[in-house]
Order: sequence, then structure tokens, then C-alpha cells
Amino acid sequence: MVSMSLLDTRDRPLRDLRISVTDRCNFRCRYCMPREVFGPDYAFLNRAEILTYEEIVRLARVFVELGVEKIRLTGGEPLVRRGLDELIGQLSGIEGLRDLTLTTNGSLLRAQAPRLKAAGLTRITISLDSMDEAVFQRMNDAGVSVATVLDGIDAAAEAGLQPIKINAVVQKGVNDHTIVDLARHFRGSGHIVRFIEFMDVGSTNGWRMNDVVTAREIVERVGAEFPLEPAEANYRGEVAQRWRYTDGGGEIGVIASISQPFCGDCTRARLSAEGELYTCLFASKGQDFRALLRGGASDEELREAVARVWRVRDDRYSEIRTEETAGLRKVEMSHIGG
Ligand code: GTP
Ligand code: 5AD
Ligand code: SF4
Ligand code: SF4
Repeated sequence: MVSMSLLDTRDRPLRDLRISVTDRCNFRCRYCMPREVFGPDYAFLNRAEILTYEEIVRLARVFVELGVEKIRLTGGEPLVRRGLDELIGQLSGIEGLRDLTLTTNGSLLRAQAPRLKAAGLTRITISLDSMDEAVFQRMNDAGVSVATVLDGIDAAAEAGLQPIKINAVVQKGVNDHTIVDLARHFRGSGHIVRFIEFMDVGSTNGWRMNDVVTAREIVERVGAEFPLEPAEANYRGEVAQRWRYTDGGGEIGVIASISQPFCGDCTRARLSAEGELYTCLFASKGQDFRALLRGGASDEELREAVARVWRVRDDRYSEIRTEETAGLRKVEMSHIGG
């Protein structure tokens, strides 16, 4: 049996697993799945290529045995995969798992929130980049309105999927003039807005350093309208830095992957929909676990394989990023869910 104290070459334990359940999405966010690339001819994975729910659960168990405490389901858009509540039901039964959550664009939540909650989902994160209708539609490029996502957020709250976090990617000249509105809208709601620095994930979103609005600037802009003070991290290695409204209106978060990288505490592994294991969001290559699963590997062999990958891990991409590395070929966000 592999010991629980599994560490990588930088002494980081394996604590979180992000599982992409599909590479498909009903949005075409320009920073993630630009329509020119992800058009009608794009070759998405077919059914036989993606892991079945049984295969995902089996791997998830192996990861929990190795120290994983938190699982986040991602996509693409996880709610476009049929019967996701079945998967959640099976995952939530894994002993030792403390947190089971999901990142969604919110458009399908009204229909699904009660089922997800009943199946055992702990909480939820919903992406919403702007409260401005024209800006939001330009960003999602799929004709989805702000009202649809707000309704999805309400549905999640009514179903008891709390606390709710709202993710907003900030791009200079695209939506940065609307960040204060977004903060204002959710102040006092109990939901936590997190502003994310636009990242150079994948190779199709045309990222440039100039398009980034830094977390510091974001805090300054929101704080100028509604004074903020720093708050303690909820746990070591929390991705978002927390800032609290001084008047008791709640808190916001900023995710400074570009300006203040957090690789030192990165305990995350990522599993793509076709069963590739990635040890960094910016990796170019994963390890094929589907072949192992379908080749008849035992649980012990799977554990050994994960441990082997983790022990040699030395990723710290965000700390060594340059304009050149940003241009290299990397796995797409829609493949490993951010
Ligand atoms: P909590 O569990 O609620 O703390 O959420 P989280 O921040 O771990 O997850 P979420 O999926 O909401 O991530 C928010 C943003 O941070 C997304 O844009 C992610 O791509 C980004 N992010 C998450 N993990 C990493 C990471 O390991 N490295 C980098 N560079 N960005 C990350
Ligand atoms: N930079 C930053 N965040 C991104 N996301 C998707 N693409 C990018 C990018 N290039 C966000 C999504 C979602 C989360 C999983 O990642 O908006 O909230
Ligand atoms: Fe879909 Fe999320 Fe990517 Fe937007 S960011 S295209 S909603 S997977
Ligand atoms: Fe972890 Fe890679 Fe993100 Fe650094 S860049 S925090 S190593 S996923």
C-alpha cells in the first residue's frame, strides 16, 4: 500500500482532484473556447473516448486513498454531460472525501440544482464575467443573457448549494470597466465574487500580458467604492486571496495567478475527460490513465501509477512564466477545466 504521506519534489501533498467530465460546452467564451477554433468542425471527444462514470469513481477512490480530500467537477461545462447527478451520488459516498463541488457556467442550473444537491454536491461555483448584458454576451459568444445565469445562481441558492462563489475572469478593455458593478450586485447577498486574472491557459486564446488587470488593481478599484480589508485564508494554499468589506457587506476574492503565483502551495491534480492525468494547469502533456483502467490494472497498480506521477512532479509554471512560455502549446482549458 502506498503511504499517505505522498509528496512531490517540492514537498507538496496531493489534496485536490479536479475532474473534467466533458470537453464540450454550450458557451464559447472568447478567452477559453474561441469560436474560430471550437467551431462546427472541431473534433470533440466521442463517447467511447471519455471515461465512464464507473471509471471516474474508481479513479477518484484511488486518489482519496492517496490523500485527496476535495474533488471539483469541471468541463467544458459539466452540466452538459447526461446524468451528472448519478456521478455525484457515487462520488459523495467515498469515505474520506470532505468537499465535493463543481464549477459551472450556470446556464443549466435552474433545471438541475435540486438534483445535484440531493445527490450530495456540497457547494457550487458559478462563472459570471459581467452584469452588463452587451459585455457578457460578447464574452460568452453564445447569446446567453445575464438574467439566465442570475436565475441559475438563485436556483442554486434555493436548493441549498451554499456557499456560492461567482467567478469572473477580468480582461483589460473587455470587462474591467464593469467589475465594480459586479461587486456591487453581490454585496450583501452572501455569495462571494472572485475576480480572476486573465491567464495564458491553452494556446488558442491569444493571451498577452497587456490584457491582464492585476489583482492589486482590482482590489483598488473595488475598494475605492466599497472599502476593503484583507482577510485570512480559509486554508493553506487557497487559490483566492480574500478581501472583506469593512462595513460587513461580505467579501470578495482575487485570484492572482499572473501577478502573484501560488505554485508553492499547489496541491492540485487534474484529470481530463479522456483520463489523462495532469499535474499542472499549464502542462502540455498528461499521463494516460484510461489505458491502465481499460487494460485491467488493479487498484494497487492504479495507486502506484498515481504515486509515481506525483513523486516526480516539479511543476511551478506560473512562477516561471514569460511571454515566450505563454506562447508554447499547452492543454486547452476546456480539456482540464481550469
Ligand atoms: P475553492 O475550492 O472554492 O477555493 O475554489 P478554487 O479557487 O480552487 O476553484 P475554482 O475552480 O473556482 O478556480 C478559480 C480560478 O482559479 C479558475 O480560473 C482556475 O483556473 C484558477 N485556478 C485554480 N487552480 C489553479 C491552479 O492550480 N493554478 C492556476 N494558475 N490557476 C488555478
Ligand atoms: N483565464 C482565467 N480564468 C479562466 N477561466 C477560463 N479560462 C480562463 C482564462 N484564460 C475560468 C472560467 C471558470 C474557471 C474554471 O476558469 O471562467 O470560472
Ligand atoms: Fe465554457 Fe467555461 Fe470555457 Fe466559458 S470558460 S467556454 S463556460 S468551459
Ligand atoms: Fe499549480 Fe501549475 Fe497553477 Fe502553479 S501553475 S499553481 S503548479 S497548476
